[in-house]
Amino acid sequence: MAAAMKLHSAMLFYILVYMDLFSFTISTLPNKYFSTKTPYAWTHPVPKPVEDELYYLKDIKGKACSAVHASAVIRHGARYPGLDDVQEISAVHDKLVLAMEPNINPELYNWVNRFPSNNNKALSSLGESEQEALGRRIATKLSTLFSDEDTSNFRFLVSSQERTKQSAAAFYEGFSSTIYGGEEAEDDFDSEVNDQLLRFFSLCAKYVFSVESNKTAFKEYFDFLSNERVVRIKEKIDKKLDIGPDVLTTANIRLIYLVCGYETAVYDSSPWCSLLDESDMEILEYLGDLKHYYKNGYGYNITWQQSCPLVSEIFATMDETIMDIENADDGEEPGGLLVGQFAFGHAETLGPLYSALGLFNDTLPLRADNYHQQSQRLFRTSNILPFSGNILFVLYECVPDEFGEDEEIEEADYYLRMFVNEEPALIPGCEELYCPYNVVRDYYHDFVDQCHFKKLCQRSEVKDEL
Ligand SMILES: *[C@@H]1O[C@H](CO)[C@@H](O)[C@H](O)[C@H]1NC(C)=O
Ligand SMILES: *[C@@H]1O[C@H](CO)[C@@H](O)[C@H](O)[C@H]1NC(C)=O
Ligand SMILES: *[C@@H]1O[C@H](CO)[C@@H](O)[C@H](O)[C@H]1NC(C)=O
Repeated sequence: MAAAMKLHSAMLFYILVYMDLFSFTISTLPNKYFSTKTPYAWTHPVPKPVEDELYYLKDIKGKACSAVHASAVIRHGARYPGLDDVQEISAVHDKLVLAMEPNINPELYNWVNRFPSNNNKALSSLGESEQEALGRRIATKLSTLFSDEDTSNFRFLVSSQERTKQSAAAFYEGFSSTIYGGEEAEDDFDSEVNDQLLRFFSLCAKYVFSVESNKTAFKEYFDFLSNERVVRIKEKIDKKLDIGPDVLTTANIRLIYLVCGYETAVYDSSPWCSLLDESDMEILEYLGDLKHYYKNGYGYNITWQQSCPLVSEIFATMDETIMDIENADDGEEPGGLLVGQFAFGHAETLGPLYSALGLFNDTLPLRADNYHQQSQRLFRTSNILPFSGNILFVLYECVPDEFGEDEEIEEADYYLRMFVNEEPALIPGCEELYCPYNVVRDYYHDFVDQCHFKKLCQRSEVKDEL
């Protein structure tokens, strides 16, 4: 009897677990492929951080290495849609209500636009918690580097946009409560606005005119928008809603896909998602990748070259840290070192930075006609440029393993590690996941030391004015 009961409850347990998994799968199915509108955790379910997991570098023979500086560039957290998209989805809904029967898809028919109209691209509460959690994790992983440091030994850089300031503040809340134990108030949080470093794309005239505001520059994107793959999605939706072919455009399909993502992120579900299958999502994700490949990636040289002020700054700051350590009096702990630099920007900041560093560089350019060949592409924005996407450099000082108290340290070596979205990543030009600082510094030498932003960003004068 007891055994039967036991068996029974075990079965019940499995059934419950199974049902739970099942419903979980259903409710979270379409949430990986939202390109740059993907919340961080949907593509990066990160494990709980371990204290000081990044503080020591243990792999280098004969040397003891510990972190002396960390530098991160972080995209703002999940945000509300822009006002244009909010108004446009209402217009699309109005068209549908006129064209469709209410009982075909009642949830969609009765949909109400819940996005407030006064939060143009402001951070959502999901975005805040993404940033706060990221701040906690980075603080935990480098706990010994950051704890006991004065707030003046951290530098927070933001762009002029509200959402990067909101992101920095949320990050700082998680960061400071981890290293100071929750007491430290937010009052002493100070950030510097620097658009030259974080919004170079709006200051670089050559980029603005030849890429950003130039429709021809996005030919591959527009070609794919009218590609048969996207047209077939539209026809499938027309059929699902039993509406004529002239109600929706392929541009509307892209908006429906975006709103499905935004609504799922903010309100957990969206009736717009019922119109799209997983394979549709993958196709629409590629549409997003095409746009960002040309806008924020390898598509045009100026797109990544214009990020040189940021690349320069990252390395200049590390150079200074090393100099400060070297110049500190013998035997004395150098005080006042900048131990952490955290810069909060945009997809348009992080994408060009990735490309300037040579990350996610596919052999074949992304084009409208090679969707199939690109199924394993590196430049997949849902993975590399989600909300709160981030790149982190950790600089280590290494000393010989067995030096005694009174032995003089001949020469310290510096090593660098890079993490992209919190995963260790190979720095181009390096053979291991940790790399001598000088090797990296030399590899990007042109970029760091030859950054002539003004000259680079001049519009070619001829003919432009005509
Ligand atoms: C717009 O982009 C196309 C394609 O790259 C290019 O040929 C053209 O020169 C660009 N226009 C301007 C004003 O730069
Ligand atoms: C763009 O940059 C790449 C790599 O640095 C170079 O090989 C190529 O010639 C450049 N293309 C143009 C059009 O300047
Ligand atoms: C990207 O890869 C291509 C070919 O593999 C190479 O020619 C190009 O220089 C790379 N671009 C950058 C910016 O590293």
